[in-house]
Amino acid sequence: MNKHIQELVCSLFKHCRSTLGHSLRVADELDKFSSYIDIKPSAEIYYMGAVHDIGKLKISSSLLNKTGKLTISEKHELNMHAIYGKQILQEKKVFSEEFMNIILYHHENQDGSGYYGLKGQEIPLFSRMLRIIDSYDAMLYGRAYQSPINEEQIKLEIEALKTTIFDAELVCSFLHYIEAKKQRMLVEKLQLSR
Ligand SMILES: [Fe+2]
Repeated sequence: MNKHIQELVCSLFKHCRSTLGHSLRVADELDKFSSYIDIKPSAEIYYMGAVHDIGKLKISSSLLNKTGKLTISEKHELNMHAIYGKQILQEKKVFSEEFMNIILYHHENQDGSGYYGLKGQEIPLFSRMLRIIDSYDAMLYGRAYQSPINEEQIKLEIEALKTTIFDAELVCSFLHYIEAKKQRMLVEKLQLSR
């Protein structure tokens, strides 16, 4: 599987570097957050993050990098990246149905208002985790059409959307994880300055 992931990541590098940067940060965060909530580590977890937006390979880079307001048809086209992602992975013939569905459902909302209308626990666990981490990264680093916001504001946004968009229990763990990461970085900084 590793060889296929490398090929897909290389294609994303050529197609849209900002999407690749976002995907690799999401992969790293998904990997670390999984360990934080005691999920057994595996390379597959990192791969899920790395290719969660791989469907954007089928979307023009001019649309991906558009800075102005998106039209309804452009939003619809962008939303197609979830199904395009599954199609691209299917062509490789090495990914499990479970893995591909995690990518297909990474924009589902708890209240059923996502792309495919799945609700609550119907949404695969890693898709629910990706939903939070993907949004966190998009808010922290911004998007072509959206300016970044600071971490305190992000926490409030995520908190406000728990139960409607995000899994409330995962939100609680994720906010603790972010706080623990911040504290750890602070301690490391203090140790370095001694
Ligand atoms: Fe996405």
